[in-house]
Amino acid sequence: MTVAEIKKEFIKRFGGDEKDVRVFASPGRVNLIGEHIDYNGGSVLPAAITLGTTIAARPRNDRMLIMEATDLTDHVEVDMDKIDDYKDLWWGNYQAGIAKELMIDGMELVGADMLYDDTLPHGGGLSSSAAIEVATALTLTVFANEKAGKSEKVDMIKMALIGQRAERNYAGVSCGIMDQFASAMGKENCAVLVDCATLDYKHVPLDLGDCSIVITNTNKKRSLITSKYNERCDECAKALADIQTVLPEIKLLGELTTEQFEANKAAIKCDICRKRAEHVVYECYRVAKSVEALQAGDIDGFGKLLNASGDSLRDLYEVTGVELDTLVDAARSVKGCIGSRMTGAGFGGCTVSIVKNDSIDEFKETVHKLYTDKIGYEPSFYITTPGDGGREIK
Ligand code: GLA
Repeated sequence: MTVAEIKKEFIKRFGGDEKDVRVFASPGRVNLIGEHIDYNGGSVLPAAITLGTTIAARPRNDRMLIMEATDLTDHVEVDMDKIDDYKDLWWGNYQAGIAKELMIDGMELVGADMLYDDTLPHGGGLSSSAAIEVATALTLTVFANEKAGKSEKVDMIKMALIGQRAERNYAGVSCGIMDQFASAMGKENCAVLVDCATLDYKHVPLDLGDCSIVITNTNKKRSLITSKYNERCDECAKALADIQTVLPEIKLLGELTTEQFEANKAAIKCDICRKRAEHVVYECYRVAKSVEALQAGDIDGFGKLLNASGDSLRDLYEVTGVELDTLVDAARSVKGCIGSRMTGAGFGGCTVSIVKNDSIDEFKETVHKLYTDKIGYEPSFYITTPGDGGREIK
């Protein structure tokens, strides 16, 4: 929906006057490289995309959040004075989680009527939850600041951290900061290089020449993802503890150089944990090399690094599965595909591919056919450019 359409729809559902309705937006993300690195303290290179969550909202005079979505029939009422009652909401729990985390930080929240318009596939691995979290945090913070007479600019990194806390405390996923950071801090035509240990970041211009980013969705229904994700976090923590017996100065796996890893990997007792650590260490190296390649305009070199990352996620980190592997193999069989790999947590969700513009039709046809023949249902495609992070749309 356009901003004008969302405002109209808001008035249809909540009544009142359009001039009192404000609009806030926050995008999803595609991670280009640096996968399963954020919770290990290395650097990641995601880009915000132009799909995401838009909220039309108006403050209320009470402490209620009244929420609806353009694509759902749900009508959710959250009383912020009973905020712990809403953890099990099917839709609305992320928003309740955000309200709770903001209140823990001492913010005096005001109620709001809010209409959500989501253009991301729900649970498709493009950070639909981070988009909802960051957009909600921004809306509630702006309203609270205005009520308190504060005119300061909203600290978007803080919004990302609030979003991460809501995800951890409400959804129970021990996630890193990447998704919320990209959603909050993305910039048009740029990727965001984030050091997840310090949150230092820089925007890296993404000039892909005659190529585009093509996202392909497995459309697989993801189940077990939370438990498998948390299992990988535990395996990395074990690998780190073993490494610290020989290198006590290392605080995070992402700090290990490839040389340090090779010289000390025997200290990691379990084979599986050693494989997970090997992925992390070499993936961090690939992120650094990717930034160099992009800055030098070496798109082919960048594509090779994407492929190597994908192979490592399949063989060492083991977070792919037949659907993602089929998509990646099909993508790489197309001549104009420069690189392709899974993106996000894995176990389903999406792949990211860099494809020559004049091969995009062939790419879609080939991947659609090979995937549907093998998996039995269709993939979806999104051709996207990097977009801006969380903001109010005036
Ligand atoms: C999910 C998490 C992120 C990150 C990725 C894997 O998207 O939310 O924090 O760990 O998986 O890179």
